[in-house]
Amino acid sequence: MNPRRALGLVFDGERLTVLDQRRLPTEERWLPAETPEAMREHIHCLAVRGAPLIGVAAALSLGHYARGGPRPEAFRAAAARLRSARPTAVNLMHAVDRMLRAFGDGDTEAAGREAEAIFDEDVALCEAMARHGAALLGDGDGVLTHCNSGALATAGVGTALGVVRRAWEDGKRLHVYVDETRPLLQGARLTAWELRRLGIPYTLQTDGMAALLLRAGRVKRVLVGADRVARNGDFANKVGTYGLAVQCAHHGVPFHPVAPWSTVDLAVPSGEHIPIEDRAPDEVRGASGAFGTVRWAPEDAAVFNPSFDVTPASLVTSLVLDRGVYSREALLAGVLGTLGG
Ligand code: MRU
Repeated sequence: MNPRRALGLVFDGERLTVLDQRRLPTEERWLPAETPEAMREHIHCLAVRGAPLIGVAAALSLGHYARGGPRPEAFRAAAARLRSARPTAVNLMHAVDRMLRAFGDGDTEAAGREAEAIFDEDVALCEAMARHGAALLGDGDGVLTHCNSGALATAGVGTALGVVRRAWEDGKRLHVYVDETRPLLQGARLTAWELRRLGIPYTLQTDGMAALLLRAGRVKRVLVGADRVARNGDFANKVGTYGLAVQCAHHGVPFHPVAPWSTVDLAVPSGEHIPIEDRAPDEVRGASGAFGTVRWAPEDAAVFNPSFDVTPASLVTSLVLDRGVYSREALLAGVLGTLGG
């Protein structure tokens, strides 16, 4: 397997390392991911996160593992463990299944080639989404986003944030409104970090402030990522996305999920069938990161902490895929099912 480098993950030809996203922006700490089990733990605890990146990370981890010539049963067991690291983003399942097919009964070379292909395809998918989505943005637009859908979440430039980046690099002056994204603050910690590095102007707000920005007319469009898109266009994304879509509908602000084909799950007919990850209560009772751990709620407070919510296609203005831009009407008419694998 040849070297590959992304913002949040590096394979140098010998070693696989990941940027610990839990510690950003305070600290840029790289962690070794020498075994599939170590990578599983990094994905499970969100040191490595973002739907496309967790698929790519799992693939590289299995490709790296295959080089040691594991027995087929051991490879399959490692793949099954990785596949179960998180339940909602289907990119993980798609990538692991591809690796299993490539490895077959022990083809280590094919597994390495497949891991490289999964990485390279993700870079290309990001480029295609960025190109299609950037055409939607105009000079001077305010754009609001939720969670982190940038280079940290993919092998390439990102999904929704990749669109912003491409439009900015095309010369459009933009201002990005960044939802903090409770409870794990991917917006405040990661999207703000990425935009600062890129030199793109941004303003950070708590999630509850977004409606005021929409009402004030400061946001021309809302762009978000996706973790799984159902056949009918409903999609799961970071919790808070659904509320944002409802607010957009109320205020007449166009709302666009941006996703690669690897996030589309044609086997799932509609959003209510998407498995939603529940996370630990302490994520809501307080916070932890490079600053340590704090708790602000009573230690036994009952907590509701789904990591994702589902937005119905009826609230989507259009879905930006690597293959093109698909309107709500097209989604509701079943266009995804006609696009094939
Ligand atoms: O729990 P996370 O941080 O992995 O959730 C990520 C998101 O919801 C992103 O918006 C998403 O992966 C899609 S865009 C890369």
